[in-house]
Amino acid sequence: MKEIHSVEDLNSRIKRVLVTEEEIKEAVKKAGQEIDKIYDGRPILLVSILKGSFVFMADICRQVTVPCEIGFMCAKSYYDGTTSPGVVKITMDLDCDISGYHVVIVEDIIDTGRTLKDILRILGARNPISLHVVTLLDKPSRRLVEIEADMALFTVPDHFVIGYGLDCGEYYRNLPYIAEYSED
Ligand code: IMP
Ligand code: MG
Repeated sequence: MKEIHSVEDLNSRIKRVLVTEEEIKEAVKKAGQEIDKIYDGRPILLVSILKGSFVFMADICRQVTVPCEIGFMCAKSYYDGTTSPGVVKITMDLDCDISGYHVVIVEDIIDTGRTLKDILRILGARNPISLHVVTLLDKPSRRLVEIEADMALFTVPDHFVIGYGLDCGEYYRNLPYIAEYSED
């Protein structure tokens, strides 16, 4: 990423809006209703994978009405061109034992799928009652490992995307919509 020197620099790289604020709002509301239907009154634990999913988490947790706890974990991937699992480092872990919980992982985007695959393996080993994934965005054209979310709100093309929690060089997370990022 080229260094950003001004607000003009920052804004000029927002190429086009892919998903508007209104579209996100509507889809998040629907996803909340879907979660309510699936768990049908049973308590759940929503687990946000930081940092990218913090905005999505804040909105979706307010759309579910089943008893709901929230948790956060931070994962960093260290890959060297391989597709083998085991290179995701948990830099901040959940503060509770998830056995006995219906766990719903809240992700920002599934790109190659490697991060999520490792997270599923790590959390699956902790014996939750069930483990599901809801992702805001899905970029299936980039997938390197076989993995699918149980619920994906939007499919995006093979572009780098920013906004609504997703960053480029830590900027743009605060945009209320999802846009394509480009330096040219
Ligand atoms: P993975 O390739 O599926 O392992 O994606 C790992 C993480 O990279 C995602 O959870 C995002 O935080 C980040 N990421 C992947 N694609 C994008 C993008 O287009 N914009 C911003 N972040 C992305
Ligand atoms: Mg992420």
